[in-house]
Amino acid sequence: MTVETVDLDALSDVALKVLNSNKEDAEFGEAKEFRKYDRSKELMEQLLDGVLSKKACTTVKNHIKKIEESIGTALGEKGTNNHVYFTLEEIHLIYDALLGMNTKYHANIPQKFTMSEAYVWLLTNLKGGTGKTTASVYLAIALALYSFQRPRILVVDTDPQGQVHEYFDGRVINQDTTPTLGQVVSGFAVAPKGMDHLEWLKTSVVRKSHVANIDYIPALPSDTRLERFLNKKYFSPETEYDCLKLLNEKVIAPLKSSYDIILIDSPPHNNLSVQSGIYCADGIIIPAATKPMDSEPTLAYVKELAHKVNILKEELDYPGVKAVRALPGMFNERRVSAKTVKRRYSKVFQEMLLPEIIEREGYLNASQQFRTMFDYSTNDDAGTPQRSHIINDWNSVAEQLLRYMERYDDLKVGEE
Ligand SMILES: Nc1ncnc2c1ncn2[C@@H]1O[C@H](COP(=O)(O)OP(=O)(O)O)[C@@H](O)[C@H]1O
Ligand SMILES: [Mg+2]
Repeated sequence: MTVETVDLDALSDVALKVLNSNKEDAEFGEAKEFRKYDRSKELMEQLLDGVLSKKACTTVKNHIKKIEESIGTALGEKGTNNHVYFTLEEIHLIYDALLGMNTKYHANIPQKFTMSEAYVWLLTNLKGGTGKTTASVYLAIALALYSFQRPRILVVDTDPQGQVHEYFDGRVINQDTTPTLGQVVSGFAVAPKGMDHLEWLKTSVVRKSHVANIDYIPALPSDTRLERFLNKKYFSPETEYDCLKLLNEKVIAPLKSSYDIILIDSPPHNNLSVQSGIYCADGIIIPAATKPMDSEPTLAYVKELAHKVNILKEELDYPGVKAVRALPGMFNERRVSAKTVKRRYSKVFQEMLLPEIIEREGYLNASQQFRTMFDYSTNDDAGTPQRSHIINDWNSVAEQLLRYMERYDDLKVGEE
């Protein structure tokens, strides 16, 4: 009998080939498009303060006609039952145009959600599969859509698994021409001569998602090298704590004035990449699945977080975390264990516990198409019947966080 051997290089060549052939069509195809926005009734209600008389609706429609004339293109797409589907961009355009016109709707047009500088949330848990990426993406979209308030959102993926990109675009990224997050942080990729760093970040590193007000920075499998880079510096004879500042200095801090909310998704580790994320963070969200096997490591991780924060406070100029929130996910009321676990989380986190996210099959169905449930309309088979429940779950979380950030910003600006 001979001992089995394997040529991993050859195997990886084949794997890459299959990976790329699967994606070839997508690469040259269209970018993902967000669904036609099916809340035009909500748009009307908002503008007309809930009083939807036929006459009032006609007036709004006439205004929209005027906007169409001035921009030279038709807006919306006729559906059944006199229903009009707008895209999110179109709704934003309508609001902006109405604000510039002399109409009586100004007071009813949603105020934009703005922060004096972006509030940074790190989503972290040592446990894998607790819903970090799901929360990063669903929360980003819920926040982006909330009451048409349009916060500008940036999602930064620091998990080399790279799934944020799958949800937001999914086309092949040309690694020869696109700098990865790890390369930017470690300084292996820099702005071309003559170009300002921020300008380069905005044009070559940040990507547009399929949702109007969400941008993102993807991670790629090769970004595992970032951890090695950080390790080399951190565990050198003279520990270079400063390496933990790089994610902030090179990426997050420069972009803070261009966004209202930054969400950082993180890998299921307790490593230096995560600690670099903590250094950037104003607040930490711990996605915590309400399952017995998740509750032990999740609760134990809180101590680790405290430890990491203390190191950052002692060795660097990190002021500390301003807020912690735990997000009880995958909640299934029919399971006794889920209730027990939620009670435990509640005992620990108390008012820091966000509204629960119910366990639903819709997540799996949507992710199999590299989508979220927000990407379907009410008319899609795949979008019903769980879609509205799932969206409501995330809206409750988004609402709480928005109100908190508003208060935080008011106090901060007041202090200045
Ligand atoms: N509320 C939920 N109900 C059902 N499945 C969920 C829910 N939230 C997340 N999932 C599924 O759980 C899996 C792991 O979630 P993910 O966000 O990738 O975890 P992590 O990023 O922490 O590893 C995914 O397949 C996701 O679709
Ligand atoms: Mg993940």
